[in-house]
Amino acid sequence: MPAFFVAGYDMLDEITKAGADFDRSLEGSADTRALDAVRVTYFGRKGGLIPALFSKLKDVPKEQKKEAGEALNRLRDRIQAALDEKSARLAAEELTRKDARETIDVTLPGRRPQLGSLHPITLVRQQMEAIFREMGYSVDPGPEIESDRYNFEALNFTPDHPARDTQDTFFTDVEGLLLRTHTSNVQIRAMEQWPPPVKVISCGRVYRRDEITMRRSPMFHQAEGFLVDKGIHIGHMRATLEHFVTKLFGGTPKFRLRPSFFPFTEPSAELDMSCLFCKGNGCGTCSQTGWMEILGCGMIHPQVLRNVKIDPEEWSGFAFGMGIDRVAMLKYGIPNIRTLFENDLRVLQQF
Ligand code: PHE
Repeated sequence: MPAFFVAGYDMLDEITKAGADFDRSLEGSADTRALDAVRVTYFGRKGGLIPALFSKLKDVPKEQKKEAGEALNRLRDRIQAALDEKSARLAAEELTRKDARETIDVTLPGRRPQLGSLHPITLVRQQMEAIFREMGYSVDPGPEIESDRYNFEALNFTPDHPARDTQDTFFTDVEGLLLRTHTSNVQIRAMEQWPPPVKVISCGRVYRRDEITMRRSPMFHQAEGFLVDKGIHIGHMRATLEHFVTKLFGGTPKFRLRPSFFPFTEPSAELDMSCLFCKGNGCGTCSQTGWMEILGCGMIHPQVLRNVKIDPEEWSGFAFGMGIDRVAMLKYGIPNIRTLFENDLRVLQQF
């Protein structure tokens, strides 16, 4: 038997055998990784079985070439198609399994959202409002964007008063509108709205062009209260404020009124209370004075009453204003005002 005949015969045989081997390998590969290895065995650039068979074709005798070539082409196409089909199927199955692994386990306990609590400023505001409600005051927050008239003019600020300067006040783009610099605007608004006798407590945000420091912020909070009735004198004011501050801070603090100045009250005063921390002996918090400045107050200026068409011969009243942030810092021992505005749940969770 001539050698070429043997070679041609062997070739067809080998192709058949390769096909059978492949079918077994395909059957045995259970995942895409195993399938990739089979693909390399048959089509790998170096040593792949199919390319190797193709290069053997040149040794096949002429008469056999066509048959062997066609058989090899068929084998290549069949292997190719079978690999493609199975790898697509396996990939899809693997994806489904992965999805199944990643679906929500409904039996897991839920993750609790972090709970906040009332902000210290809110707590202090609520305490202040509650003390005055008990004394029959109405609560009226008033607007934060205010006109010059309510923030300054009707409160007896002269046109050239330094508080009106752009250095102290945020003005809006709208002529005559500004961010209120204090809650005293509510005095005017409330007195215009309700004829005396009237008692109002008002808490809210105020704005001043200050640098941010440990104790100052361009936005802070004030509480304002005032009362107008017949025969009101400074003794009523003092008794009201002492009652208020004692209820707010507790204990048995001492008080003193120190003369001061505000354009809208006459006379004006600052109310000091003996230092909460050292009971008046002098410490770091009270700068060794034994006293803490708590609020500004005074008898409502007759001109302010006239500005809202209340006759100062018939009616009189007192007003006071204080910083809520400072009270919150004192009450809760918060040294830096910024802590109040950082929206940090770890801070809130302490109250
Ligand atoms: N409005 C004053 C301030 O911002 C406080 C104050 C209110 C004083 C009412 C007297 C009467 O400092």
